[in-house]
Amino acid sequence: MSKKYLSEREGQVKFFEDLKISDYVELTNNTDGVYKGTLFEFKLTIPDINKVLFQAIKYLSHKRIIGKPIPAQIMLVSLNEEIAYLFESSVYLNEIETIYAGAASKNNQSFSAKSQPEVIDFSKIDGLKSIIDVLGTVKFTKIHINMFCVVGWANSYYEKLHKASKSDFFEELRNPNIFKDYILPWQGDDIDFKYINDLLNPKTLKKELGAFYTPRPYCLKATELVRKAIKRIPKGNDYIILDRCAGTGNLQEFLTDKPVNEMTIRDLDKYIDKNLKIKYLQDKSEIITTFYSSKNFHEITIGELEKHKSSISLHDYLSDNELSHVIVNTYELKEWLVLIARLENKVKLVVPPPEHLNEHSPIVNGGDALSDHFILGSGVGRMFISEQYKEIIDEINSYVKDPKTNIILFENPPYRDNTAIDKQSIKSKDKSYVYKEFVKNGTNQAIHNDVSNLFIWSAWNYYLIKPDDYYVLFSPIKYWKTHNLGERQFVEGYLFNRQYFHATPSAISCILWKNTPQSLNTLNLTAYDIDTNKTPELDDDKIIKLNEISIQKVSKSMNEVYADKRRFDSDKNITVTVENNGLETAKPFKKHAIYNDNIIGHMMIKGFSLGVMTYSLTSLITYTNGLIESHGFYLRDDNYITILPMFVAKLYPQKNWYERDIYFTSADGGDAYLKDKEFLKSCFIFTCLSQSNHCRSIDGTDGNYYQNKLCFDTNTVASQDLLKYKLNGDEQGLIDLFNQILNKAKITKNYNSKYSYGTYQIDQELNTRYKNEINEWIYDYPELNTLITSLKSNLSKYYENYIQPKLFEYELLK
Ligand SMILES: C[S@@+](CC[C@H](N)C(=O)[O-])C[C@H]1O[C@@H](n2cnc3c(N)ncnc32)[C@H](O)[C@@H]1O
Repeated sequence: MSKKYLSEREGQVKFFEDLKISDYVELTNNTDGVYKGTLFEFKLTIPDINKVLFQAIKYLSHKRIIGKPIPAQIMLVSLNEEIAYLFESSVYLNEIETIYAGAASKNNQSFSAKSQPEVIDFSKIDGLKSIIDVLGTVKFTKIHINMFCVVGWANSYYEKLHKASKSDFFEELRNPNIFKDYILPWQGDDIDFKYINDLLNPKTLKKELGAFYTPRPYCLKATELVRKAIKRIPKGNDYIILDRCAGTGNLQEFLTDKPVNEMTIRDLDKYIDKNLKIKYLQDKSEIITTFYSSKNFHEITIGELEKHKSSISLHDYLSDNELSHVIVNTYELKEWLVLIARLENKVKLVVPPPEHLNEHSPIVNGGDALSDHFILGSGVGRMFISEQYKEIIDEINSYVKDPKTNIILFENPPYRDNTAIDKQSIKSKDKSYVYKEFVKNGTNQAIHNDVSNLFIWSAWNYYLIKPDDYYVLFSPIKYWKTHNLGERQFVEGYLFNRQYFHATPSAISCILWKNTPQSLNTLNLTAYDIDTNKTPELDDDKIIKLNEISIQKVSKSMNEVYADKRRFDSDKNITVTVENNGLETAKPFKKHAIYNDNIIGHMMIKGFSLGVMTYSLTSLITYTNGLIESHGFYLRDDNYITILPMFVAKLYPQKNWYERDIYFTSADGGDAYLKDKEFLKSCFIFTCLSQSNHCRSIDGTDGNYYQNKLCFDTNTVASQDLLKYKLNGDEQGLIDLFNQILNKAKITKNYNSKYSYGTYQIDQELNTRYKNEINEWIYDYPELNTLITSLKSNLSKYYENYIQPKLFEYELLK
């Protein structure tokens, strides 16, 4: 052995330097590179040629997937022996066109070379000369286009031709021009790519794809939590990072793919936050000037810097090759294809294996993480999954069982709100294995109908079974706050803004849980927003730390405790019901409607969450979408004022994104609020003036008149009750304003002197308006409209000053 390199990188740099081509080489993974028509695979020594050749072939397979030309030659270089082995890649086209995601990548042993290599001894001048000859070759092996690689080639195509369209791209595939040396003409049909069509669009459009989900700054922040988990794994144990719903692999973006010591300063942006990088380089600045000033700054390796101790070590933050511990699963064909292009050759396993892909289905067979075959693997008798798939699942389960391997789940599970449409889709999807097991556990509909809860419950149940297992979980905090699905040790957590996840602004938590039981009543999470720098580019997005938000658990819903379900003998059945807008329902007789002189109105209060679907307040019972409101109840004149705070709590405005999905209504404070007469008065005044109170006076189709009793027009129950209170200046101001509104209302065209009017009915029926040619609203009574607007804004200040703090104090909001 003539050379004594200690690292492949060192030998490789020297090798290219000797050949005077270092500037041109595309260095990949620091240990191999492509030069013109040759792929290099460097090793210090090569005791097993087959193994290294196979590694090179897998590398070329990945190059095809990402749409890069396949060099015609493969050169395996044994640096210390100064021997190179030269192969023709065309001989291995079949192998290059195989996809190595999953277990296939593991069987290195079973591969054997189909051809004899040319052996070159480059310690001799002749050998060096023939290497220089080889390096002059610019030749490529043409590959077939299929579903697995078409996305990568589309990317490369649009990178070269910015203005090209999708049909230009298909034309290029059929009659290669710029790719004529790289690909064989494609004989397929457009329809073959039906389900991945939008991935083949020019790049700019792809940003719109939901597939690119969690925004990068949040992925990086969450990666910090994963790293904290890794650092806490007991000494001597290995770990797996599992993501059952990886989509296109955004969460894995910043995990390391090489040993920390082999990273260069240039590499650091790929793995860590800019601030940490700056702090680290400042800490090492003296070391850099003393020892490495002659080197290219960006090429200095972390290994070199870490040889000299200072106060920060990157090894405290990063671990070697974190991606090699990762197992990802994905469910949609599109996502699977993007995922392998990004991660295939870097991660431990990709589920499902490529055999499970079928271009005629948008879904990948076996990718449903909630199914029995995904959870049980070979433990399931069904035959439609491959042996290889079962092996993969069994491998995952063996890590779960192995006491020397800890599991870190790193997931952003899908979450669906409990809308009617979603309920139907769950029904038609033939409820998953996890769904059925979860139901057996005695859950209620609100919990098991939400897909995210199925993911979370199954995480604790099937994967996180050792005390040193961890879960880094993105999810609206409801799972912890109301469903008790986070009864584990809290390590650290953040709140992120869903606005950047293609949703409306609201809070999604990202928490590192340790799998040891703990029941907390309060969580403190730090809110982080994103500053997009007002540009569509993602690279200049920055994460911004806001305040710390304290979140409380809730246990009792208001409806369970405060609803007035009394029935009176004097209640009469009637045929009139109303829509949520307070107008009579245009439907035939509905049998559950009742009336009584003591009924003031009808209220519906649902669940813990806030939002327009969770409350209603009308004069008569609501009958919407063909259903009588089953969560509702009647307000009676003897106690309605004590019940109005529930309605008021549901109207909490949640002005900031980090309040949404964070604060819920509850009855956990019991009846403490009832003792605060001032508070009851405030809620009473607010309700009677609020436009969210949809009580109206109506003439029923049954011939009866139904008065709005919950407003401050004359002769209503509410206006009589108002007289019992002493009003402060602000309150008197609101009432005066309402009286001015009433006076203006009385001179409008539609005014009906029989009716008692509240703000909502005045605005809907009397404050008439129309749109002019340029689509602006023109009001028939601008003064009336102005007064209504003022009332709205004064009322919202009144809420903020007099009501809001007390809602929290009495735990009506929590
Ligand atoms: C909220 S996204 C997260 C994607 C990605 N991890 C990210 O953060 O950008 C949820 C992902 O779960 C996938 N998914 C939905 N239902 C699934 C199921 N039953 N099994 C596996 N994945 C599923 C969706 O296709 C989607 O990619």
